[in-house]
Amino acid sequence: MKAFILDRYGSNDGVRAGEMPDPKLRDDDVLVQIHAASVNPVDLKIRDGKLKLILPYRLPFVLGNDLAGVVVRVGSGVRRFRPGDEVYARPDGDRIGAFAEFISIKEDAVANKPKKLTMEEAASIPLVGLTAWQAMVERANLKSGQRVLIHAGSGGVGTFAIQLAKHIGAIVATTTSTANLEWVKRLGAENVIDYKKDDFANILHDYDVVLDTLGGETLEKSVRVLKPGGKLISIAGPPDPDFAKEVGATWIVRLAMRVLSHRIRKVAKRHHVSYSFLFMRPSGDQLGEIGSLIDSGVIRPVVDRVFPFEATKEALAYVEKGRAKGKVVVKVR
Ligand SMILES: NC(=O)c1ccc[n+]([C@@H]2O[C@H](COP(=O)([O-])OP(=O)(O)OC[C@H]3O[C@@H](n4cnc5c(N)ncnc54)[C@H](OP(=O)(O)O)[C@@H]3O)[C@@H](O)[C@H]2O)c1
Repeated sequence: MKAFILDRYGSNDGVRAGEMPDPKLRDDDVLVQIHAASVNPVDLKIRDGKLKLILPYRLPFVLGNDLAGVVVRVGSGVRRFRPGDEVYARPDGDRIGAFAEFISIKEDAVANKPKKLTMEEAASIPLVGLTAWQAMVERANLKSGQRVLIHAGSGGVGTFAIQLAKHIGAIVATTTSTANLEWVKRLGAENVIDYKKDDFANILHDYDVVLDTLGGETLEKSVRVLKPGGKLISIAGPPDPDFAKEVGATWIVRLAMRVLSHRIRKVAKRHHVSYSFLFMRPSGDQLGEIGSLIDSGVIRPVVDRVFPFEATKEALAYVEKGRAKGKVVVKVR
């Protein structure tokens, strides 16, 4: 099959279009013919070797973490899908490879594609949708009337998380640049801070939850926005000891995560708020719930650009610029 393959870590120079053997099908797998895949910053982190400690792939391998397509075969133990089903998924972290013609995915990670969406729109959803769901619903237990700050409201995660938080009934604030202000308001954010002009930490107070998508200085300043007992959840900041335990990290990696997150945990404690790092996980069940919200018109996909399959490297380079409005998609067939 045709695929975009990583030969060596470091940059787009290590990525090439080439042929790979068709994926093997396990008993609990579905084999999906991929119609569209979306690009996520995690593709760049994997490409550059930044996640080697927690995701040790063997080179060469196929990149890509998000897809929509049609089931062509199912393993002997598969009960919920049949050939011909239109599906979408974020595959397990150790079995990625969405920039390709085919992928085998565990049945548990797959859901029926939302009926309303095209393949390109559906491929834009799984990774950011699951991230927003696991942050807002599971980790934050966000409730109607609570106040949430979602950083980078115009990004892939932000555009989804704003709509989800709004649906829950929360009061949503977000940060974005001047050109995107009105546009993110229309997604459901009531309080939009222009990060080019204003400092969110001087404006927002007494928030219940912050979803940090930027890390660094933004993460640390976010503590000041929260009220005592508030929750600071980061998908970009340093991994914490609980995350290390969750992934069964070795003692040296556990120690590294403890040291890296020491400062933010200390600052959070001083302000009587909690800090936690979230690394999203695949879930077909949650994608099913997300699909219902999409089909009922509560959440709509936000696709910035669609690139042809041959231009997958250009799609990666486009996302790398960090200015995407919503999601970037590759049309595979
Ligand atoms: N831990 C996890 O499980 C997990 C899951 C998903 C994503 N992530 C991480 O979360 C981060 C965001 O992901 P994404 O898919 O949303 O990225 P993305 O779509 O590439 O984000 C691009 C957006 O970020 C905005 N932005 C950049 N700098 C900003 C700033 N200082 N303040 C506010 N907005 C800013 C840009 O808006 P402007 O053009 O207006 O600046 C742009 O619209 C990435 O680091 C990704 O790796 C982690």
